[in-house]
Amino acid sequence: MSMKLSGKVVLITGGSRGLGAATAAAFADQGADVAISYVASEGKAAAVVTGLEAKGVRAAAIQADQGDLTAAGPLMRRVVETFGKLDILVNNAAVAWQGRTIDDPEIDNAAMDRQWAINAMGVIANIRAASKVLPEGGRIISVGSGLGTRVAFPGTTDYAATKAAVVGYSRGAARDLGRRNITVNVVQAGVMDTDMAASSKDKLPPSLLESLAIRRYAEVNEVAAAIVFLAGPDAAYITGSIIDVSGGFIA
Ligand SMILES: NC(=O)c1ccc[n+]([C@@H]2O[C@H](COP(=O)([O-])OP(=O)(O)OC[C@H]3O[C@@H](n4cnc5c(N)ncnc54)[C@H](OP(=O)(O)O)[C@@H]3O)[C@@H](O)[C@H]2O)c1
Repeated sequence: MSMKLSGKVVLITGGSRGLGAATAAAFADQGADVAISYVASEGKAAAVVTGLEAKGVRAAAIQADQGDLTAAGPLMRRVVETFGKLDILVNNAAVAWQGRTIDDPEIDNAAMDRQWAINAMGVIANIRAASKVLPEGGRIISVGSGLGTRVAFPGTTDYAATKAAVVGYSRGAARDLGRRNITVNVVQAGVMDTDMAASSKDKLPPSLLESLAIRRYAEVNEVAAAIVFLAGPDAAYITGSIIDVSGGFIA
């Protein structure tokens, strides 16, 4: 098996479950040492670390609430203290609190604000903090959603807008960091069968599946593969881009 990321250190936020855990395994399969962050699932994060170490790489789990903007700097420092450096940041952690329109009197605007803090400002804080420690040729990949490009149904305004914000910030960061050959990209995932999707399933329109060019949900490994590609040597000239892995949701 080729090991394109041997000697690299990656931080994957929200690596305790779902896409983050699958992405952590995909990086380890390419020889990278892997740090994951989590907010609540200490046991699941520890199990992911055990699985990564069984693949022969170094791994660590770090508790850090992405909704607390002061946590980003210490998180990056912990990775550097543990592994000696940070080469690749994958901003995967997010929440999806959907289901009510913005004029619904029952909408929980405090929860929407917290969603903004985790999905947008927390990602921005991570990018700012990582930009201080990434070396020449470093990589930043953020996980977006097809909803960041096309808001296909009501009740997801805030979630969709957090993902659009990440795209805009990533484009600017690509410009700012390009002189150091640091690339900044977004992988927009389609619906994947994770805890997040399970919690929003009753809020997604039944017609969503029929609207896709490829009429099935994404496998987490399909999305993880695009993230790993952007971190690898073959993607050094791709920056400020969106790779959409959503079965044609935005086609
Ligand atoms: N699932 C989908 O259908 C879908 C579609 C499009 C895009 N996406 C995007 O794909 C990414 C991964 O989603 P997923 O489906 O794998 O989600 P998931 O199964 O709900 O897992 C979320 C991960 O994020 C972590 N997390 C949540 N809040 C956090 C916080 N405040 N601070 C730090 N970590 C936090 C969780 O940690 P704990 O385990 O500790 O809670 C967990 O590791 C997200 O960016 C999401 O928006 C998902």
